[in-house]
Amino acid sequence: MGDRTGEQLGAYTVVAHVADGSMGSVYEARHSETGERVAVKVLHPEVASDAVAVQRFRREYETAKSLCHAYIIDPRDFDVTAGGAHFMTMELLEGEELSLVLAREGAMRRARLVRVVSQLALALHHAHSHGVIHRDLKPDNILLCAGTHGDEVRVLDFGSVKLQAESGPKLTAFGTTLGSPYYMSPEQAMGKLDLDSRTDVFALAAIMHELATGQVAFPGDSVAAILKRIADEEPPPVSTSSPDYPWSFDDVVKQGLRKDKVDRFGSTMELANAMLRALGLEPDVERWARTPVRDIERALEASPAAVTPASSPPFAYPSSIPAAPPMRDARTARMAIGVTWAAALVAAAWLILS
Ligand SMILES: Nc1ncnc2c1ncn2[C@@H]1O[C@H](COP(=O)(O)OP(=O)(O)O)[C@@H](O)[C@H]1O
Ligand SMILES: [Mg+2]
Repeated sequence: MGDRTGEQLGAYTVVAHVADGSMGSVYEARHSETGERVAVKVLHPEVASDAVAVQRFRREYETAKSLCHAYIIDPRDFDVTAGGAHFMTMELLEGEELSLVLAREGAMRRARLVRVVSQLALALHHAHSHGVIHRDLKPDNILLCAGTHGDEVRVLDFGSVKLQAESGPKLTAFGTTLGSPYYMSPEQAMGKLDLDSRTDVFALAAIMHELATGQVAFPGDSVAAILKRIADEEPPPVSTSSPDYPWSFDDVVKQGLRKDKVDRFGSTMELANAMLRALGLEPDVERWARTPVRDIERALEASPAAVTPASSPPFAYPSSIPAAPPMRDARTARMAIGVTWAAALVAAAWLILS
């Protein structure tokens, strides 16, 4: 991927490379006249030659633009240069991908998790109530910005969205928009077309598991192995590796990860409220999303759930998954995933159906 530093993109001059994603590269840029600093996402040239991907990129912009929310990225403009580079500008965030924070710091303490998950639940609920399903929620697509009282999340990358009114994956380009399989819902893994907001509920529960344990919920060294786990297995309960989290929290994650979407929480708000109750906090997602982490910490210490675990586990959890190291750091692995996607999906479907 060539570096565009120094290039002119419309009215913007590219100043520095920020990060690469699966669809494009993100740079810091400056408006040539006003000097305003923005982030600019430029479609990878090999992706820009695919008409479906270009259409998707424009829709990513339009969708995110229509969702004006504190915890969702705020796009500005969309343009194409004379040389054919498609780009969108956005607010420039001084943040860090949640995936990088997890890789460096491992499991998150409860207070920080409460704040982050509450904010994510609000962002997704907002999207869902506007008929938008994200479909590619994962730590790479979540930015954590440092606020005065703790993290301020931004959900990025609406490049895989499905609008509720759509019947099928019309705009899915082969090998480009299908993201990381780790956070895929079982219905996505099986290639079902009638996805709804409960697909994002599943991804959020998988992220909760990872935040609380530092381990991906469904590890595996191939796409097929990961998808098979998603379809058939349950991750080990959070409290076995992170004893700070009560058994009642295990139950919440477990319900969020139910294979059949009808058994999951109906919305991300229900999931977040259940999490708050499990930790002995008042079920008020808006409140905890903006409460300073220190105050959440105090509230948790004072809560009954922190003193006595809510209940004994009623039975031994089937924990057939060995604690494998998360295979999620390599971007090259993700590229490989894109390429091997079709073959893997066929293999996984075969495994699931057999
Ligand atoms: N507005 C922004 N400000 C700062 N960094 C950003 C911004 N948008 C994206 N990024 C960084 O660029 C990466 C790729 O962006 P993303 O929208 O996910 O692209 P892709 O669709 O190619 O995956 C993100 O994971 C994030 O680290
Ligand atoms: Mg991305």
